Amino acid sequence: MNIDRKTIRYLRYLRDVYGNKIILNKDLLMNELEQYKKEIENCKKCILGESRIKFVFGDGNPNADIMFVGEAPGATEDQTGITFIGRAGKLLDKLLLNINLQRSDIFIANVLKCRPPANRDPLPSEIAICEKYLHKQISIIKPKVIIALGRIAGKTLIKQELALGKMRGKKYNYQNVDLYVTYHPAAILRNPNWKDSIVSDFQMIAKKYL
Ligand code: URA
Repeated sequence: MNIDRKTIRYLRYLRDVYGNKIILNKDLLMNELEQYKKEIENCKKCILGESRIKFVFGDGNPNADIMFVGEAPGATEDQTGITFIGRAGKLLDKLLLNINLQRSDIFIANVLKCRPPANRDPLPSEIAICEKYLHKQISIIKPKVIIALGRIAGKTLIKQELALGKMRGKKYNYQNVDLYVTYHPAAILRNPNWKDSIVSDFQMIAKKYL
C-alpha cells in the first residue's frame, strides 16, 4: 500500500487527537519511516559517508513505546546495515528479554548512522549533522520514553558533558519525550560489575512505561 506522507501525517494527527479510538496500522507508520530512510540513506554530508559500507538507519517497531539510542554502528552493523547485531546487541537482547521484550517491541537507532573508522568516537561535527536524522525518527515514532545507551548517546541527547554515573538515574526530556541514560551494553561486556545497574535501569523503565 502506497500512501503519501501528507495522508500519513493527517492520520497521525487523528491518532494524536483521538488516541486509542483510532487504530493506526503499523504498516502505515513503517511506510513513513521507510520513506524517510529512502530520503536519507545515501547521505554524504560528512566523511563517514565515504568510508561506510552500509548506512545503518535503525530497526524495530515503528510504533514502539520504548526507543533506544546507541552511539554508532560497529563493524558488524556496517556490514549488515542492521543495528546492534554484534556482541553488544546479543547482550541487549538478553537485557530486553529480562523485561519481557523482544527487538520487535522496541525501536533502536544510533546517534550516527555510519560507522566511524576503527570505531573512534563520533566528532561533534558528525553528531551535529546526524542528530537531525534522529530527531526526525523520534518525531515519526513518537515513543513514550527514550533510553540513551552510553556516554556518547547520553551527552548528545542531554546536551551536557557528564560522566555516565552522573547521567544515570535521572529523568530528562528530549523533544518532549522522557529520556533516561544508562550504560552501553558494550561497556558491560568490558566491565561486568555494571550489569546489575543496567538490569535495574531497564526494570525501572519497564515498570514505569510498559
Ligand atoms: N554499538 C552501538 O552503539 N550501536 C550499534 O549499532 C552497535 C554497537
